[in-house]
Amino acid sequence: MRMVDIIAKKRDGGVLTDEEIRFLIRGYTDGSIPDYQMAAWAMAVYFKGMTDHETAVLTDAMMHSGDTVDLRCFGHLSVDKHSTGGVGDKTTLIVAPIVAALGGKLAKMSGRGLGHTGGTVDKLESIPGFRATLSPEAFERQVQDIGVAVIGQSGNLTPADKKLYALRDVTATIDSIPLIASSVMSKKLAAGAQSIVLDVKCGSGAFMKTEADGKKLAEKMVAIGKACGRSVAALITNMDIPLGNNVGNALEVMEAVEVLKGKRGDLREICTALASTLLSLCHGWSHADAVHAVNEALDSGLAFRTMEAWIAAQGGDAKALTDFSLLPQAAVCHGVKAPRSGYLRHMDAEKVGISSSLLGAGRMKKEDPIDYAAGIVLEKKTGDHVEAGETLAWLYTNEERRIRGAEDLFLSALEWGEAAPAKAPLIYEIVR
Ligand code: URA
Repeated sequence: MRMVDIIAKKRDGGVLTDEEIRFLIRGYTDGSIPDYQMAAWAMAVYFKGMTDHETAVLTDAMMHSGDTVDLRCFGHLSVDKHSTGGVGDKTTLIVAPIVAALGGKLAKMSGRGLGHTGGTVDKLESIPGFRATLSPEAFERQVQDIGVAVIGQSGNLTPADKKLYALRDVTATIDSIPLIASSVMSKKLAAGAQSIVLDVKCGSGAFMKTEADGKKLAEKMVAIGKACGRSVAALITNMDIPLGNNVGNALEVMEAVEVLKGKRGDLREICTALASTLLSLCHGWSHADAVHAVNEALDSGLAFRTMEAWIAAQGGDAKALTDFSLLPQAAVCHGVKAPRSGYLRHMDAEKVGISSSLLGAGRMKKEDPIDYAAGIVLEKKTGDHVEAGETLAWLYTNEERRIRGAEDLFLSALEWGEAAPAKAPLIYEIVR
């Protein structure tokens, strides 16, 4: 079999055989197929797509390219969640302790941020002392005792996806539905959970720009999970504006804590939907019972106490969750003033995410260090009426020189008008 023939077949719109797909994933993982051939193949897939069967075989080949985790000891209680990536998306920090407080067992491997989207591990590591590496024994014990452990992607889990994802990131082939579906599902299936909730984000801050594409991706991932015997549901959610008000690692930890302590709004709404869907899958609860239990866990403080126990178990300073002055603090805080009066009609979430990265909150390259205190707190969001000179947002950084570029980009993310825009839903649909 020759890789060049497989590339040509896909370039011409052909359907690959199971053997061809397994050959290319095996060869790419062991290094016998070089990056340039894999990049050409990914671009052919980007333009010609893959059938459902091809996508399922690709997922299976990537899932088995390395180790898989066995969570059978937790039976039907083992749960996982995955977001396709967004700006201000701190939902794992909230959903994880809620679900753990209510009997779920969340053994989660999370990623770091890259480009304009943030990563859960970076957010957690902004808490002084937090360790995102645990031995397999400590990981399992913590999930057993507290119900949640979150570590960075480690070991030899889906090495094919690790290589292919990094290649796609620099060859403009990320936003392909079969490639995203197989990337996400290979990781989730290898990580072993029985019940999985996917948060498929769509809009200006997401890889899927439209609701229709978000739905296609959600349906594909749910079908793959079910075919592998897992309980899967996908929420299609709005990422046209950043989620919540805070963007940036320590700032997002603070906002997550506020929600766990009772703060209402869009963030609580989405986390309630994610957590209740997961609890319905793993316990078989009705939707109404699951929502009731989630609200109780939030309002009674049970979910917050579970977060304190989780953070402390992984070496983090749990006092920082109550006394935010113990979290990283920025030396510079700059208010962005409104250049005019009017309604904020649109806020390009991707630009807001990049602006936060420019302040130091994210990486442009994998090796870049992170400023945990950096980021943005939004005072105004899409739909708000603003007077000229009012503060739109606060920019936080430890390097004054970063303010100018970040502020210019932030202001370019805003569209103004004389009338309020129509209110978009937060959750478009749940695919089961
Ligand atoms: N998240 C993933 O894990 N993989 C993709 O391809 C896109 C988003």
